[in-house]
Amino acid sequence: MFRVAVIGASGLLGRAVVRELAAVTDWQVVPTAFRHGGPQEAVLDVRDAHAVNAFVEREAPDAIVLAAAERRPDVCEHDPAAARALNVDAVRSIATAARQRGAWVLSISTDYVFDGTEPPYDIDDTPNPLNAYGQSKLEGERALLETSDNALVLRLPLLYGPIVGWHESAVTSLVPAIVASAQPGAPAAPMDAWATRYPTFTPDVAFLIRELLLRFADGAPVCGVAQWSGDEPMTKYDIAQRLAQALGVQARLLAQPTPTDSTPRPRDCHLDSSRLEALGMGRRTPFDAAIRAVLDAFTISGERR
Ligand SMILES: NC(=O)c1ccc[n+]([C@@H]2O[C@H](COP(=O)([O-])OP(=O)(O)OC[C@H]3O[C@@H](n4cnc5c(N)ncnc54)[C@H](OP(=O)(O)O)[C@@H]3O)[C@@H](O)[C@H]2O)c1
Repeated sequence: MFRVAVIGASGLLGRAVVRELAAVTDWQVVPTAFRHGGPQEAVLDVRDAHAVNAFVEREAPDAIVLAAAERRPDVCEHDPAAARALNVDAVRSIATAARQRGAWVLSISTDYVFDGTEPPYDIDDTPNPLNAYGQSKLEGERALLETSDNALVLRLPLLYGPIVGWHESAVTSLVPAIVASAQPGAPAAPMDAWATRYPTFTPDVAFLIRELLLRFADGAPVCGVAQWSGDEPMTKYDIAQRLAQALGVQARLLAQPTPTDSTPRPRDCHLDSSRLEALGMGRRTPFDAAIRAVLDAFTISGERR
């Protein structure tokens, strides 16, 4: 039986991947988590190379999807060493263990490996990360591809999808400020209108990952670097307007024409997805339909329905 380990199965993307793969009846999915797992997930600290090795030997996966990471730019900026332990060193130990076992590794990376000055970005364009997060993910890409040639880096942009709370995605984290701005007498909520993002729906990424795993299982793996992106450009101000419409609130939003983040972020990292499109892979759910499905699971004050 084809066995797939999903490392980071408790996260925003990992949950969507496990959900998608569970629908493939003749595959066995082995999910892992660290601090937020449930009874289904094995506990694995990917910073512990011995534990990683023991896990791969014990579970003998044919393929590993690596979705564990430190993905918060501000956290990475304040503690780059901790970010490297997770985003670089752990990738290398997983790739080493996978190579010994002959397992294919699909590791998730980010559009933040680019500086955002000359979009769109092809897979061969030169990375130039602006912050510690992007730098650590770029080094993680290199650690993977230096260690194993049976591996794929999949770069993705801003993600949103089914959540456990508003904070979990940089899309839904805008909701509390949008709702507050609609209260009588409340000040307008400032929203970044400088950087362009391409919000990408986690169930669509999970669908793509299932297609990539199928190709590996069929003996035609995609290796090296690939990219996938939603195709609707939006600033956070645009996203907030569409969220307000979906929530049915009269939000008061203030467009911020210059960046306000303390951690530098790229302006527009549109990822060219043509390598995977040429293989006939992937799907894109329109933002308005997808975000309504995400919001419908919660009340406006953030309680789960
Ligand atoms: N979110 C985005 O907008 C976005 C955009 C582009 C690329 N990406 C990339 O997509 C991937 C998935 O991101 P995400 O948004 O799903 O992240 P997330 O929601 O923050 O989830 C992170 C996952 O990493 C696990 N983890 C953290 N420390 C760990 C450790 N020491 N050992 C093992 N597991 C550990 C967490 O497990 P516990 O919670 O159980 O501790 C969780 O399952 C990452 O590679 C990220 O860089 C994300």
